[in-house]
Amino acid sequence: MDITSGPVSVISGASSGFGAIYAERFARRGHNLLLIARRTDRLQKLAAALTDKYGVRAEVMTADLSRAEDLRRVEERIETLSTIEYLVNSAGFGGNRPFPDVDLDLETRMILVHCLATMRLCRAALVPMTAKKSGKIINLASAAGFLAGRGAADYTATKAYMITFSRSLQADVADRGIRVQALCPGMVATEFHQTNPMRDAPIKKRIPKFFWIDAEKVVTASLKSIDCRWLRRVVCMPTLRYKILIWAGYEWWLAPLRILFSRGRIR
Ligand SMILES: NC(=O)c1ccc[n+]([C@@H]2O[C@H](COP(=O)([O-])OP(=O)(O)OC[C@H]3O[C@@H](n4cnc5c(N)ncnc54)[C@H](OP(=O)(O)O)[C@@H]3O)[C@@H](O)[C@H]2O)c1
Repeated sequence: MDITSGPVSVISGASSGFGAIYAERFARRGHNLLLIARRTDRLQKLAAALTDKYGVRAEVMTADLSRAEDLRRVEERIETLSTIEYLVNSAGFGGNRPFPDVDLDLETRMILVHCLATMRLCRAALVPMTAKKSGKIINLASAAGFLAGRGAADYTATKAYMITFSRSLQADVADRGIRVQALCPGMVATEFHQTNPMRDAPIKKRIPKFFWIDAEKVVTASLKSIDCRWLRRVVCMPTLRYKILIWAGYEWWLAPLRILFSRGRIR
């Protein structure tokens, strides 16, 4: 199956959440797909459903992006995609324990997936994107990348990496017709919050309903922003609520809002 017979969109973390939504949006536009994650059954089911519904070609790659050999395999495949339009780095997960009682293996994998895999997959995608002088990269960062808080040292730090990396990457590739986005949603009800270690994370109970946002709306805002010819913003934070919260995170006189929101756990 040759997915380069038409435009191709590549999505890591496509087996659920944001990744699966992006896959549907790109298939709706008629793009062929390269879907990447660890759960093959989920990817195959999604690929079959999108092929059925939109008549696109979808290739599945089972890969654990924290493993060097899997990551290299994915990079090599992406480098050959001469018709690549979008790369979405959506693979990721949360952490829940404060230092020093962290699950060291999980925190290490988090750095590998959020930072190393993002950087390497971006570089791989830039090979064909640079050759055709166009392409768009969306890195699923987080509003948490602007904050700091208990039990989230690596999560917030890796998301901050993704934001800064994306901003500097945009500066590097702007003259090659390539757009980069660091998408910074707040709390969104995906499987992210149902899988370990986030399942029992206390922060979920503290966040008022008002702060939960809809994943479909986040993806709509992300695509609207990156596809806009005039808007040249790298950081995309889809809701005003979170813009205010992040601002409160930096302004001392808005500390009461921060304390109300997080009982002082977010700094
Ligand atoms: N939901 C939120 O509130 C929220 C807010 C801000 C930012 N984000 C970010 O958005 C991104 C997507 O999260 P989501 O909300 O869509 O959660 P999700 O539904 O749990 O999706 C996460 C995806 O990442 C994949 N993944 C996890 N570890 C992987 C690994 N080692 N190798 C390859 N794939 C891996 C998972 O697939 P497999 O398990 O099949 O590998 C899954 O497809 C994450 O980076 C997250 O940090 C989420």
